[in-house]
Amino acid sequence: MANGTLAVRDLSVSYGRAVRALRGVSLDVPAGSVTAVLGANGAGKSTLLRAISGTLPFHRGAVDAGTVRLGDRSLIGLHPATVVAAGVVQVPEGRRVFGRLSVEENLRAGALGAPSRAESAKAHGRVLELFPVLAERARQRAGLLSGGEQQMLAIGRALMACPSVLLLDEPTLGLAPLMAERIAQTIREINLLGTAILLIEQNAALALELSSAAHVLEVGAVALHGPSAELAGSDEVRRRYLGVGEEADSAEDGEAAGETAPPPTLERWTG
Ligand SMILES: Nc1ncnc2c1ncn2[C@@H]1O[C@H](COP(=O)(O)OP(=O)(O)OP(=O)(O)O)[C@@H](O)[C@H]1O
Ligand SMILES: [Mg+2]
Repeated sequence: MANGTLAVRDLSVSYGRAVRALRGVSLDVPAGSVTAVLGANGAGKSTLLRAISGTLPFHRGAVDAGTVRLGDRSLIGLHPATVVAAGVVQVPEGRRVFGRLSVEENLRAGALGAPSRAESAKAHGRVLELFPVLAERARQRAGLLSGGEQQMLAIGRALMACPSVLLLDEPTLGLAPLMAERIAQTIREINLLGTAILLIEQNAALALELSSAAHVLEVGAVALHGPSAELAGSDEVRRRYLGVGEEADSAEDGEAAGETAPPPTLERWTG
């Protein structure tokens, strides 16, 4: 599969010519890397993925300025199916699967984007190895799967197209910690198999752990970026996105010592 860095430069996006959702966003997803984007609700994270995958028109959005390239190929203005064929595949927010179709039929639908039958057969084998539960449930209606299993199916379906870059929009949102950890482990495995990943997450701790570089979006612009390990150590990120340094406040709130805190998410900081 053709490869190269997914490069976003000076990207500005608006909806209905009125709402400016992204302003001059630049970031790189080097081949084979995991790059994370953090940000509060409404920061523009999904908009960024829609601009890359060519699905903005479905949301009445448009790219006003900037470029998106995979290697030396421009992706701006391409039909979403052409972007998939170029190797960039999005798993949208909300683990959308075809609920009335079987698990297997959902996977076959993903294979429509595969470069060849041989490639999709190989991808099918890899997906069932990554997610054995999808083999066990092959004939079940996808709508009957648990939330975590539906997320696995949504990722599995995307992998059927043999992406060189996978775009993941909040894959652990709403999942119990154990299931979120399983999804995280799968993201590591997918990456080890050579697929680059652009990971959108509100769970900043998880995103920084999985990625080598990260960008923090605030109101449509990149406010901070750098190596994930550095960001995880920065006071601002620790305070605002990882919930570290708030112990004194919790104690004043009368929180029992040793009580498990909720997982650190950006959501806590926007309300
Ligand atoms: N279809 C749309 N039409 C008009 N405005 C939109 C549309 N989709 C998103 N927006 C606006 O664009 C901005 C960015 O939204 P976006 O969905 O990209 O944020 P997000 O970071 O993914 O948020 P969340 O964490 O809630 O998923 C927000 O102000 C949002 O209200
Ligand atoms: Mg979103």
